[in-house]
Amino acid sequence: MHASRKRRLVLIGTFFVAVAIALVSWFEPQRSESWQVWTVVHGDSPSQGGETGKSIASPLRGPIAFALDLKGCLVVADSQAGAFVTWAPDGSLKGTVKVTGARIPSRIEVDETGLVYGVGPDRKSVVRYNPDGSSMPVFSQATGEVYFIEGIGVFGSGTLYVQDVSFQKDRYTRKLTRVSPGGQIVTTLSSIEKSKAGDSKVGEKVQIPVEVDDFVVSKDGTLVVVSGTQDPYSRTVTRIAPSGNTARFTIREKELVRRCRLLGVDSQGNIFIGMSLGKEPRVTACRYDPAGHKMSEVSLKGLTGAGEVSGRVDAQGNIYISRDSDTGFCIDKYSPKSVTGSNPSFWAVSGQAVNQEQESHKSSAGSLLITNIGQLATPDGSCGTPLTGPRLGSIRTIKDAAIYCKGGMIARVGPREEVEHWVEGAGADVALLDAGRRVAVPGFVDPHTHLVFEGNRALEFEQRIRGAGYLEILASGGGILDTVHRTREATAERLLDRALARARLMAASGTTTVEVKSGYGLDLMSEVKILRVVQAMNQKVPMDFIPTFLGAHAVPPEFAGDAGGFVEYLVAEALPVIASLGLAEFADVFCETGVFSPEQSRRVLLASREKGLLPKIHADEMASSGGAEVAAEVGAVSADHLVKVSSAGMDLMANKGVIAVLLPATSLFMGTREGAPAREMISRGIAIALATDCNPGTSPVTSMQLVMSLASSYLRMTPGEALSAATLNAAFAVNKGHTLGALEQGRRADIVIMDAEDYREIAYFMGSNLACAVMKDGSVLASDGRPGF
Ligand code: NIG
Ligand code: FE
Repeated sequence: MHASRKRRLVLIGTFFVAVAIALVSWFEPQRSESWQVWTVVHGDSPSQGGETGKSIASPLRGPIAFALDLKGCLVVADSQAGAFVTWAPDGSLKGTVKVTGARIPSRIEVDETGLVYGVGPDRKSVVRYNPDGSSMPVFSQATGEVYFIEGIGVFGSGTLYVQDVSFQKDRYTRKLTRVSPGGQIVTTLSSIEKSKAGDSKVGEKVQIPVEVDDFVVSKDGTLVVVSGTQDPYSRTVTRIAPSGNTARFTIREKELVRRCRLLGVDSQGNIFIGMSLGKEPRVTACRYDPAGHKMSEVSLKGLTGAGEVSGRVDAQGNIYISRDSDTGFCIDKYSPKSVTGSNPSFWAVSGQAVNQEQESHKSSAGSLLITNIGQLATPDGSCGTPLTGPRLGSIRTIKDAAIYCKGGMIARVGPREEVEHWVEGAGADVALLDAGRRVAVPGFVDPHTHLVFEGNRALEFEQRIRGAGYLEILASGGGILDTVHRTREATAERLLDRALARARLMAASGTTTVEVKSGYGLDLMSEVKILRVVQAMNQKVPMDFIPTFLGAHAVPPEFAGDAGGFVEYLVAEALPVIASLGLAEFADVFCETGVFSPEQSRRVLLASREKGLLPKIHADEMASSGGAEVAAEVGAVSADHLVKVSSAGMDLMANKGVIAVLLPATSLFMGTREGAPAREMISRGIAIALATDCNPGTSPVTSMQLVMSLASSYLRMTPGEALSAATLNAAFAVNKGHTLGALEQGRRADIVIMDAEDYREIAYFMGSNLACAVMKDGSVLASDGRPGF
C-alpha cells in the first residue's frame, strides 16, 4: 500500500474510535418517554385529574368483569347485582339482563351475535349466557391436571380460545386451546391446527408461545399473544392471523415488567397492552403500531398496585379500564386525543411524535469538528434555487478545510485554520473527526425510489434478457403486478425489515435522505400499509425518508382493463384517506403508453395537488407519451425518467422550472442504448437531479455513487454536474433544497467523507464505495461501509 495512504488510514482509524462512542450512544433507542394521547373523559372522581366527564357504569358494587360488543357498547358483569348491564358508548344505560341459575363470571367475552361467554364457577368450564339470562356450558376442561381456566377469547359466532393453567410435576404451565363453536378442541398445546377451509392447508401447524402471559382475539379472528422471555424487562408479542401468518415483535422496557395484560387491538391493527412496571409499580397502557413500535403511553389513574390491569379497547382505540375507587368500582374511558382536532387518527398523533423525536435527536447531537479535510466539495446553494446551465457543474472546493457541526447543523465551514480558530475561541467541548485529507461532500439525496416491496424479479430479468418486453410482461399480469401481489401478502413487519435492509446499503454508500414511493399495494389498505412502513422507517433510523403516494403505478387486477375506473377509485377513495392521514408529501403517476394516459395522469395529479400532495410524474420513459407536458401543466416538482422526452416537453419544463430527475441506472439495467438527453436538458436550462429509482423491476440499485458514474459515462454529465444533481438539485426535487444538499452554514450536517483526493473520483471509480464516514445531522450514520443501524 502507498505509504501516505497507509498513514491516512491510521489517522482516520484513530478518529473512528472516537466517533464510535458517539455512534453507540446515537443508536441507543432514544424514544420520547411518554406522551399522553388520552384524556380521561369518563371517571367517577374529578380529583383523579384529566378531563372528567360523566361516569360510565359507576358506582358498581362488586368487582366487575366487562367486555365490548361489536357496536362498542360496554357489557358489564356486575356480580353484586347478579346481572349483565349494557352501557352505550355515550355512557347511557341500555339494558340489564338478570342472570338466572348461574353465578356471574369473573371474566366475560361477547361474540359477534351479542352472546356473553364467561368462565364457569368451577373455573374449569366455559358458559354461554342467553339473552334471557339462562346459561349453558359450552366447553369443559375437566382433565385432571388442569388447575383452572384463566382466560377466554371469542370471535365470530362462538369460536373460543381458552387459556388454562395446569399443575404438573411441581410446575404451573399455561396453554391455549382453540375450540370450535360446537365445543370441539381444534388446538394442541403449543400449536393451532389451521383447519378452516380456505385458511390454509389442513394440518399445518403454527407455533404459539407456551409461556402465555395473556392473549386477545380481535374481531377478525387474529390471535394476539403476549408471552414472557428470559429477560424480565421484555415481552414477546405474537400475532397469528386467521390465515396462519405469524408476526412477532419484542417489547423492551427500562423497568421490570411485572404484569402484562393485552387490552385489545383497534381497527388499525394497533396493539394495546396494560402493564405494571418497576419496583413501586406504575401502571400504564401502551399502544404499539402493527410493526411493534411503541407509539404512545398513558398512565392509568387510580391503579397503583402490581394488581392486574383489566381493560378493553374499542375499534377507535378508546381504552376502558376498570378499577376500584372510593365510591365503588368504575370504568374509566381514555380517548385518543387528536392533534388536528377533527381527525381522530392516531397516525396524525404519531406523526407529530415522530417529528418531536427527530427534533430531540437533533438538539441532543453534540458538537463535532470534522477537520483535516483534503478537499471540501459542494454545489453552491447560496442562490436558493436548483442549479441549471453552467452553474450545475461549478463545484465550490476548499482545500484543507474543516466543518464544525452543532446541534445537527453546520455551524461553521471553511479553511481549516479559520474554523479551528473559531472553535477554540468558542471554547466548546467538541468531538473530533479527522478526515485524513480526504474529500467531504454533502450527504446524497436519492429523490426517486420504490424502497418498500416484497421479493425480487430475477426471473423476469432473465425473461427480458431473452427478449420479452417490460410492458408486455406487465400487460400479462406480471412485472409490477407480480410485486404488487407479493407486497399485498407481506406483513408490515416483513416490509419494514426488507426496506431497512435496502436503506442500510444506501446509508453505507453515502445516502442520507431518500424519497420513497408507495405503489406496490394499489388498494387503499395496502398503500396505507406501505406508507406506514415509511413512517416507521423514519422513526427507526436517523435518515430522512420522504413519502410519495404512487397509487397510479399500474392497474391492479380488480380493475383489469379499466384504468379510468381505477383512477376514479384512487381520486374518490384512496387519495382523501391518504391525505387526511398525512401519510404522503408527494403524489406520483406512471404516465406511459399502455399504463396511464396523460389525461388520467393529469386527473390524479390535480386531485392530489388539491389535497396538498405535491405532484411528481414518471414521464416519457419508454415512449414519448406527453408526460413532460403534463408535468409542466400541473406544476410538478419533478418529472422523472424522460428518456424519450419531446423537444416541446423540455421547453415547457424549462419554462415552468420542473426538475428533471434522471435515472441512468434504470435505462442501463433495461438495456436501453441511449439514456435521457441530459446535455440537451442542461443547454435548455432544465435543472437535473439524479436518483437510483431503486425498485425490483427496473433498477435494483441502491448506490448514488454508481448513479453518478453512469450519469457521467452514459449521459455525459461531468462529475461536477453529477455531484450537484445528486445533492443540491436532488434535495430540491424533494422540496428540501433550502436545508439539505450543500455544505454551507445553517444547513443540516449531512456530510460524507469520501476516500478520494478529488470529488471527480466519485464518478470515476465506477462500482466502488468510497464513502468511509457518513454523517446525518452531525452524527455518524455509517462508517467504513457499515451502517450503524
Ligand atoms: O420507475 N416505471 C415504473 N415504475 C418503476 C418500475 C417499477 C417496477 O418495475 O416494479 C420505475 O422504473
Ligand atoms: Fe420509478
